[in-house]
Amino acid sequence: MGINFRKPSVKPIQESSTVIDIVESGGNVLNGIGTFVFNNLTGKVQTMGVLDWSEKYSVNIREIDDQHKKLISMVNHLNSAMREGKGRDALGKILGDLIEYTRTHFAHEERLMHSNGYPDYVAHKAKHKWLTDKVGDLSKEYNDGKITISLEVMTFLQDWVKNHIMGTDKQYTPFLNGKGIS
Ligand SMILES: [Fe+2]
Ligand SMILES: [Fe+2]
Repeated sequence: MGINFRKPSVKPIQESSTVIDIVESGGNVLNGIGTFVFNNLTGKVQTMGVLDWSEKYSVNIREIDDQHKKLISMVNHLNSAMREGKGRDALGKILGDLIEYTRTHFAHEERLMHSNGYPDYVAHKAKHKWLTDKVGDLSKEYNDGKITISLEVMTFLQDWVKNHIMGTDKQYTPFLNGKGIS
């Protein structure tokens, strides 16, 4: 009888992370606790990072870069307020300001694209609308007490700022620079 080699039944280790329960008290989010991510692979607890502006985000139009820097700093402000355990009202105010500034920025970008005849204006505007609706829903759910400013919310906000600038905004750079806008 041969030796029966059986495959080990151990599942491959996958990189995964678990958000440690966020403790709420008295309607306030994260009072003095902060948000941590437990990395199952390294066994280390990490705090959520901030989004840093760097030249890779530049669309080579100074006014727009300044607006993007402000957006990034507002996302970071919300993140740090969340980690400092600021209350629901304070976080709601910061989230509201962020959404309002996002709308202002999108409108500015749309005017710039439209007045210069940017060919992808309609598609770009549609992406703005999708994001505006999404953060609008988020804000409504927050104000209705259905969600908290959580790691997921912060990840979503950080991702959209990063991905929209890198993937969509940067596409207009050659066209608008070609129109003498920088
Ligand atoms: Fe945009
Ligand atoms: Fe933008």
